[in-house]
Amino acid sequence: MSIDLKRSTSKIATSLGLLSQLPRSLDQCKKTTHIPINFQKVDCTLLRGDNLDALALLSGLNNPFVDFCYIDPPYNTKNKFIYNDTRTGNSSEVFGSHSEWMTFMLPRLVAAHSVINETGFIAVSIDDHEQPYLRLLLDKIFGEENFAGNIVVCRSKNGKGSNKGIAVNHDYVVVYSKSHQAEIIGLGDDETKYDQQDIHGRYKVDGLFRKKGDASKREDRPNMFYPLYYDELGRVFTKKSHSNQKEVYPVDSKGIERRWLWGRDKAELESWKLYASKNGVIYVKNYSSHDKKIKIRSFWDNNKYLTERATSQIKDIYGEKIFETPKPVELIEDLILSLSSKDSVILDFFAGTGTTAHAAHNLNLTDGGSRKVILVEQDINISDAHVAFSYGYRTIADITEARLQYISKEQNSYSYESISLDDLNATNDQKNVSLAYG
Ligand SMILES: C[S@@+](CC[C@H](N)C(=O)[O-])C[C@H]1O[C@@H](n2cnc3c(N)ncnc32)[C@H](O)[C@@H]1O
Repeated sequence: MSIDLKRSTSKIATSLGLLSQLPRSLDQCKKTTHIPINFQKVDCTLLRGDNLDALALLSGLNNPFVDFCYIDPPYNTKNKFIYNDTRTGNSSEVFGSHSEWMTFMLPRLVAAHSVINETGFIAVSIDDHEQPYLRLLLDKIFGEENFAGNIVVCRSKNGKGSNKGIAVNHDYVVVYSKSHQAEIIGLGDDETKYDQQDIHGRYKVDGLFRKKGDASKREDRPNMFYPLYYDELGRVFTKKSHSNQKEVYPVDSKGIERRWLWGRDKAELESWKLYASKNGVIYVKNYSSHDKKIKIRSFWDNNKYLTERATSQIKDIYGEKIFETPKPVELIEDLILSLSSKDSVILDFFAGTGTTAHAAHNLNLTDGGSRKVILVEQDINISDAHVAFSYGYRTIADITEARLQYISKEQNSYSYESISLDDLNATNDQKNVSLAYG
């Protein structure tokens, strides 16, 4: 499917009052007609060049083919990073200083929308600098009805910020689906929490057998108020068979008579699923199942998502902190798991250190999946004052490719292809193909 990127972008820019800001580069966006890319034949395809060119190229391929798109664009923090993170618009524009960042993102998100298939999702990392403006763009491009949620990720324990302000220790992952056909898969359960075992399997004890909340009183379901018996091993019975078994009714700590979750017949048949604590609180055992998926919540707070974790991963891989803003591989793994299936095509067009490829590779190793990844990273020169330069990297895409080399060394069978968009276009120039977009 080929979209008219310029027309689609201009339409949205007009509705947002951003038209006068649209970059002229949209006219010059290169489009190759003969693309020697077969991203299915390798684990990862790295497109080296501007992501607008890459997206124009990808949107020219047949049908929307991307199942999951994760991006981590420049947040516009005005910090001096290895890449440009300062986009300040004219403050007299509708969105003031945010307009330049918005017009940078707009055509890229329009193109991304065109390559994601109907059951797919996009997840975008962002922080408070541009989060509201990103939402406006995504509402327009993906539709408000396809907003799936805004995940708040705790990225550091202490946070940062000016002395006066609130110390910010989170960022966001904004998630939109392409259409109502997309379904959130959810995360696998944390197996380490299943710390008990019986002949039926591993289980955890976390759910009361006494009903709580609405309709939980004895009079609401009188047939679910009956005695149970338990012994010192925590076993639960519906009939007393031994003198050392103690009796218990569903009565709460305030003495209010409530009811059990099941009727007596079910409790008799499935009493092996019940567990009694020493002081006679009855629980339903929660058995582990590898297929069990937990609904994802909007607040992600886990040490594995901390930026310091990502930084130490970068040091392990590159020998030094040669990139300022990496994401921890576990964060991307959990996003991929939650929002896509094992055989997905995954696109990240702000690839940085290539964390997304690493995450997909790790998951393929653990669950036997066949995920394919397309990365895009710009091939612009790194300043000779930057630490990455002293480590031998000349362009940012070199850093991305080094991660892919690292994965290949860890796993011989890992395959990737690195394609320079400039080389592609030069080849097409020779073939006399028009590259002008629009
Ligand atoms: C926040 S970083 C992504 C970090 C990445 N998630 C990681 O874990 O390493 C954003 C990346 O987008 C790249 N980028 C910015 N503008 C781009 C463009 N127009 N085309 C391609 N890449 C671009 C930057 O060079 C930078 O590496």
